[in-house]
Parts: sequence; C-alpha cells; structure tokens
Amino acid sequence: MRHTKVKDLLNSTTTLQEINAKGWVRTFRNNQFIALNDGSTINNIQCVVDFENTPDETLKRITTGAAVSVTGNLVESKGAGQKYEIQVNKLEILGDSDAEKFPMQPKKHSLEFLRENAHLRVRTNAFGAIMRVRSVLSFAVHSYFQQKGFVYVNTPIVTGADAEGAGEMFQVTSLPLDNLPKTEEGNIDYKKDFFGKHTNLTVSGQLEGETFAMALGQIYTFGPTFRAENSNTSRHLAEFWMIEPEVAFNDLNDNMDLAEDFIKYVVKYAVDNCGDDLKFLEGRLIEEEKSKPQTERSEMPLLEKLGFVMNNDFKRVSYTEAVDILRDSTPNKKKKFQYIINEWGADLQSEHERYLVEKHFKCPVILFDYPANIKAFYMRLNEDGKTVRAMDILFPGIGEIVGGSQREERFDVLVEKMKALGIDEEELWWYLDTRRFGSAVHSGFGLGFERLVLFVTGMTNIRDVIPFPRTPQNAEF
Ligand code: 4AD
Ligand code: MG
Repeated sequence: MRHTKVKDLLNSTTTLQEINAKGWVRTFRNNQFIALNDGSTINNIQCVVDFENTPDETLKRITTGAAVSVTGNLVESKGAGQKYEIQVNKLEILGDSDAEKFPMQPKKHSLEFLRENAHLRVRTNAFGAIMRVRSVLSFAVHSYFQQKGFVYVNTPIVTGADAEGAGEMFQVTSLPLDNLPKTEEGNIDYKKDFFGKHTNLTVSGQLEGETFAMALGQIYTFGPTFRAENSNTSRHLAEFWMIEPEVAFNDLNDNMDLAEDFIKYVVKYAVDNCGDDLKFLEGRLIEEEKSKPQTERSEMPLLEKLGFVMNNDFKRVSYTEAVDILRDSTPNKKKKFQYIINEWGADLQSEHERYLVEKHFKCPVILFDYPANIKAFYMRLNEDGKTVRAMDILFPGIGEIVGGSQREERFDVLVEKMKALGIDEEELWWYLDTRRFGSAVHSGFGLGFERLVLFVTGMTNIRDVIPFPRTPQNAEF
C-alpha cells in the first residue's frame, strides 16, 4: 500500500478510509497518542493507537525517534488544534529507536548540542523548517533567473586561477605530501601534480561567469565556493553556496536594480510558500527574545521584517556619504566602535555596516562607489580616479549579503590595475581576452546563499542554516 504524506493528510478536505502513513515518532502519550512526523510539513499528525488490542511488546517499541507505519482511517479529531487524526487499525514498527540513547529528546536542546548532532538535528521542528525553507529558497533563485531568461552556468570548482583575491584558498593536489617532487631549483614541481599546475578550490565563479555573459548575455551561477579564511564568526563558512549573476550591457544602476528585485522576489517566494515553517520560526524567535535584555531584542517579528524588506526600497548611499555618517555617529565619537572611522578610505567593518543598517537607516542599504584600493582589481574605475563602481548590500542582523560591481571593461585600464597589484597577466590571459574581443559594459554580483537563509529564517548563526557546516577545525559528517 502506497503511503500518503502527512502534509496531504492534514490538508485533506474529507475523512478517508484505509490510508497508510509512514514517519518518525516525535512523542507517544498515554500509551495511545503518537505525534507522527514525516518531514513533509512541520506539523505532526496525531495517530490514535487501539491500545487495548495492541500487544504490550509493540506499544513499548513506540518510542521517540522510531520509524513506524500506521494504517487506518483519517477521521475528524476530537482533540484541540487539529482537524484530522488517524485512527490506527494496524501499526508496524519499521525501525526501533532506543529511547534512552536517542539524542533528540522531546525537549529544548541548545543549538551547540544540535550542531554536534547535525545528522539528527534535522529531525527537530526548527531544523526541519530551516532546511525546507532553504530548499524553497534555492528553487526560487532558479525560478527568478529562469523566468528572466538567464542561462544557468556551472563554473569549475577546481580552478587554476587564484587571482580574484576574494579570500584565502584551499589547495587541491594529488601529490604525496610526505614526498613532494622538486624542481632543480628545489621548488615543488607542480608539473607533476594532477592538473600539471598549482590548483585550488574556487572562491567564486565570477571570472568564468563573465566570459559566458559576454556570449550568452545574462547568466547566473549557483554553486559551492570555498574560503580558507580563519574567521570563526557567525557569518562565515569555509564552504558556502553563492549565486552570481552576470549581465552584459548592465551598468551599476542596472546591477543594483537587479539585485534588489531578485532579493525581494526570493523573500516573497519563501513567505508565500513556507507559511507554516516561517510561522514556527517566528514563534521560536519570540521565545528566544524573551530571554534577552530589552535592548538586544529585535524590533520586528520575523514575518513583519520579511514584509518590510519586500515592500520598501533599499536605501542607496555612496561610500563617501556613509563615511561622513559614520564619522559623525555617536559610537564613533564615543569610541564605542572597535575600529574608529577617522578618514575617507577606511575599510568598513561589520560593526559599521550594522550601524548604518540597524541604527541609522533602519532598512537594507546598498553602498556604492567604494575606494578602489579596498576592492577587487576587476571593478570599474570611476572618473575621479580613486573610487570604483562597487556595490555591497547590507542587511539588518546580517551585514553584507551581496557584493558586486560594474566590471572594468577597458583593456588598458584593467591591465594597468593588474600590474599595479602584481596580478599575473599570463595566468588570466583568457579573462583578458573578453576585453580584447568585443568588450562591453557589464556587471554582476554575488549573493551568499546562507546569509540569505539566515535572514529569512531569523537564525543568527550561519552554522545553523547549512546541513553540515564546514568551519575552522570542523569537518565532521
Ligand atoms: O563579496 P564577495 O567576496 O564577492 C565575490 O566573491 C564576487 N566575486 C561576487 C561577484 O561580483 N560575482 O562574496 C559575495 C558574497 C558576500 O556578500 C557574502 O554574502 C558571501 O558571498 N560570503 C560568504 N558567506 C559565507 N561565508 C563566507 N566565508 C563568505 N564570504 C562571502
Ligand atoms: Mg564582499
């Protein structure tokens, strides 16, 4: 007999005879009521066991975490809070669960404890909800770009180019580390390595993506990226997923419009399609907030915050204006910032980004036209000769969620910039070819997918929005 998903049973419009459901026991009360969850929805279905006619041995095996199959009728529930329940005629234990040892007890666990049990945490309400929202968001990403006719490009994960400068890289090699082949000069002989050269895991698909945009017009990537930065923060992963659209003939303003429209679309898509999960996560957050001091509480409940982002324009502010605001801000004057902003040219830290978004503008902010020397080599130089057409989107509670720019399309200017930064022209010969043959204005950006999931779920640690986080000193599972 084919089983029906719990979600479909709960959404049924009539009572049903002889249905089968399969799932995992969340709780078993009074030797009679199973709360069954199969992952199709955050909601459990109540299964009423005919305990008088069920052998004691079987009843004992209905424990939290056990996999069971129940067959019976879907009837109107007499209990509060649910329309239907299953009156069980036949119960089968598919997989026992040792109630004493099962780590996911029906009680509140700390997020740290759950991280240590990342293979089982997905059986909790919160992580089930987060992972469903994550899945829906990734579908929304594809849906947005596909509807607009963008071509999805799979850029390489192993790369020979390490010039982007977006972060420290993980080396990929098949050389024996305890017996490295050497050249006559005594250096490591990468000609003997698998690819015949030094290779790394990619930090971004942008440079390859640009070559495709200069043929296909509008492209996007959506794949894993890797950064070996030793930054153990609640916003950084060593392995994270990035979405990188790149569009020929778009300038920086078009780029900002695209990024804003895209973010609003995917947030709305999640709100429209993850109602139950987001409501649960909102409730979870409200509970959590109660234990915090008043000053640290966030001002808006989760769904209101998402609605605010969907329905309001992002504030567009130049770096120069932002620095003026920061220089005159109370935390700067009172030396409350860890990094004091004294002069134009200073790199902005997350404390500054969050001040602008959370305290000053109180809405998402797009900062643009950054000083050239704190941004990547490929960004288009402005007429002033000192700023570049960069843009970062800053979100409340998150800080930077998007980084992007209009690209330097002028061959000579690009080469000069690379020379100044000591970037090997030969290594990037293929990238420079896009500026040799039919170069044109183009722009793109990268959205950190986990930072988006953080924002939409209201979680605060990036390790809690990816199935199995990879961070310094941690690659379990
Ligand atoms: O600002 P980033 O470094 O930009 C790039 O990589 C460009 N190549 C993008 C482009 O123009 N196509 O990274 C883009 C975004 C950041 O804004 C942030 O959301 C996310 O990627 N990100 C990280 N997310 C999690 N863990 C990390 N270590 C991250 N580093 C960046
Ligand atoms: Mg950035």
